[in-house]
Amino acid sequence: MARKYLVETFGCQMNFHDGERISGLLESEGYEPAASEAEADLLVLNTCSVRERAEEKLYSRLGEIRLAAASCDRQPQIAVTGCVAQQEGDALLTRNLPIDVVVGTQAIRQLPALLTEAKARQTPRVDINPYEDVSFPLGVAKASDPTRAWVTIIEGCNEFCSFCVVPYTRGHERMRPVADILAEVQRAADSGRLEVQLLGQIVNHYQAPDDPGCDFPELLRRVSQIDGLRRVRFASPHPRHASDRLIEVMQSTPKICRHFHLPVQSGSNRVLKEMRRRYSREEYLALVDRLRAAMPDISVSTDIIVGFPGETAEDFEATLDLVRRVGFSFIYSFKYSPRPNTLADKRMADDVQESVKTSRIMTLQQLQAEIQVSLFQAMIGRTVEVLVEGPSRRRDWEMTGKTPGWVTVNFPGPATLVGQLVTVRLTAAAPNSVRGELVEAASAH
Ligand code: SAH
Ligand code: SF4
Ligand code: F3S
Repeated sequence: MARKYLVETFGCQMNFHDGERISGLLESEGYEPAASEAEADLLVLNTCSVRERAEEKLYSRLGEIRLAAASCDRQPQIAVTGCVAQQEGDALLTRNLPIDVVVGTQAIRQLPALLTEAKARQTPRVDINPYEDVSFPLGVAKASDPTRAWVTIIEGCNEFCSFCVVPYTRGHERMRPVADILAEVQRAADSGRLEVQLLGQIVNHYQAPDDPGCDFPELLRRVSQIDGLRRVRFASPHPRHASDRLIEVMQSTPKICRHFHLPVQSGSNRVLKEMRRRYSREEYLALVDRLRAAMPDISVSTDIIVGFPGETAEDFEATLDLVRRVGFSFIYSFKYSPRPNTLADKRMADDVQESVKTSRIMTLQQLQAEIQVSLFQAMIGRTVEVLVEGPSRRRDWEMTGKTPGWVTVNFPGPATLVGQLVTVRLTAAAPNSVRGELVEAASAH
């Protein structure tokens, strides 16, 4: 009987896509997906290390798995992949945890062979080598999203922001050949997916290794020309590398979604400097102005860290002020969490009290909630194009999907619409989504 596997992914979109790659690799070796944890012969924990809490998830999950195994006398094989695997390597095996295989972020192709070896030799196997090769066999990743394809274009990061563990867990920046990227997107379009999301730690730093004339704007242009594809997205661009040419290409290419997720991290120049972000708040605001001058309807969203070492009340005020000025469509906000190897952790004390971090993040989220409600209210009465993802979380007779600006829209409609682009007239605003009614089932372009 085929062995059954389950992949649990924590972390960012790139990790999610690595989960799709891992699933595909396992299935090409004859594994089958398990319907539940109880049925799984193999559990893959695809981990994230970006904040301490994300890393702790691994240890709490391993604790749960051990308990479950003790109560039913059945021990699945356990593999740890992703950023904690890369960061900890062999050290994971010294903690008396139920782990059979540890595979780093650049070694996922070794996973099936290591699982077999670990089983045959009854001993744990580890591979966290920084393989340089970023190629991945075409058609192997298991497309788990019926609406959009996720395509990695860059792996790793050379930026070394002082708070961030990613350059240590993902390695230095490596670009995929443009030929591979276009072939993968073509395949996604042929399979009926209307949207593609290009992924990279600094996605707009792309430069094709196989074509000197193909930088990120040019890649966007080429991807947009692929037949059958209707929407192109990317995450995350770095403000420092957002060129005027990128803005021009977006403006002149309607298939590129009017959305820019542009992590700012802080609105204080002093903190930005300590973070080594290499732009000022003025440069950031000027970039947002340029984006909006070219595309007035563009949705701008961001990531913000509160409580970075040394962040004063004034620094935090500057962040609130920037948030008010920009009017982000949404923000992801985080309390600073010291991470191993990073400059901030080595050189600075985590000196903003937890209670201050909590009160700052609450203030920030409250401000953003107000901004979001007024943005959503201004959308009422408009018609928008929605890519339908599936039944809404609360009501199964309603469908949910995203606008080009990544606003969640819920509307009554049949499940046959999943994967399609529809036109919806917006009727009411909720805290994190907008409701509407179907105008046209297949939006014409
Ligand atoms: N490459 C992206 C960010 C990837 S990490 C960029 O440069 O914009 C995703 C987000 O996690 C970051 O934008 C940051 O807001 C947050 N983050 C990263 N390290 C963190 C830390 N040590 N503590 C708290 N939040 C952190
Ligand atoms: Fe981390 Fe900075 Fe690289 Fe983003 S750009 S992944 S925040 S080091
Ligand atoms: Fe987490 Fe690694 Fe992504 S640390 S955010 S899974 S790159």
